[in-house]
Amino acid sequence: MTSTRQQDAILLGMLFAACGERVLRSDLARAAGIAPGELEHRLAPYLEAGYPIELHPQGGVSLGEPPDIWCAEEIVGRCPTRETFFAPGWDPVLLAETSSTNDVVREQARNGARAGFVVAASRQTRGRGRLGRGWESPPGLGLYLSILLRPGSPAMDAGQLIILSSVSAAEAVEALAGFRPQIKWPNDLVADGRKLGGLLIETEREGAELSFAVLGIGLNVRQIADDFSPEVRSLATSLHLVTGRLYRRADLLVALLQALERRLDAPFADTRQVWEASSLTLGQRVTLTTVRGRKYGQALGLDESGALLLRGESGEIETVTAGDMQAV
Ligand code: BTN
Repeated sequence: MTSTRQQDAILLGMLFAACGERVLRSDLARAAGIAPGELEHRLAPYLEAGYPIELHPQGGVSLGEPPDIWCAEEIVGRCPTRETFFAPGWDPVLLAETSSTNDVVREQARNGARAGFVVAASRQTRGRGRLGRGWESPPGLGLYLSILLRPGSPAMDAGQLIILSSVSAAEAVEALAGFRPQIKWPNDLVADGRKLGGLLIETEREGAELSFAVLGIGLNVRQIADDFSPEVRSLATSLHLVTGRLYRRADLLVALLQALERRLDAPFADTRQVWEASSLTLGQRVTLTTVRGRKYGQALGLDESGALLLRGESGEIETVTAGDMQAV
């Protein structure tokens, strides 16, 4: 992000942090490193884009409740940079439409994009789910995003990454919508017994070395039942269907990046405990469909690498890293 965009991000970040209260022009200008006389001109594009910014004649500037719009400056301004493994912070690109955000991030990763690069789209034309399934991505209704992580990031082990990201997504939902979804192994978010979101983690290696991981997250935000295809309608839900409220996708994106940053910094043992406490199927008898066939057993928990511990029919305990789980 250029320094002008960084300055705009600081302005928007301060206005969002003030939650509708007036912020002094002098404080805004000082923080962004611009002249107070420049403020109006700098905020004009955001006003034009639909952010309800008011420049009060008597002094301050305030931001009302924004509609469901977003821009990279808002996201960066609300997720201030900390000294993390991917400093200088998140680098979001927001697209109106793309085939799959995972594909965009993978391509940019091959071209050298850095960890913390994020692509979110309002619509995906070829959204992908796990196990070759599709991911319904109608315009403006869900959050569809992908994040680039590289070696040097904590938890780059794919198993740990799955656990850490699903816990982060559940925490983001709770921070925004006030309820904690359950997690169905390996990485489905479930509310009221229906699927609220899912994660698709794709890795690329150079020889034996991990080159990068793309963390794709899809969350149903504003859908009503009719927005889902007949095939998934009885299986899916959205934040709107669960709470009756319409959330801004940008608010969820900000909550998600903040949760993820906290989790990437936290010891994996803590995250594992939170995952186990949120798990839908822990302790239950389950069927696991894996590439090597079907297994039955009791889901016991996770090992330190994030793999599922399953007690099989004859009492033996095995670890499972991929598959599809159903309670029996
Ligand atoms: C699943 O539950 O099967 C995983 C769904 C993952 C969907 C997200 S949406 C953003 C990113 N881009 C994709 O094409 N898929 C992931």
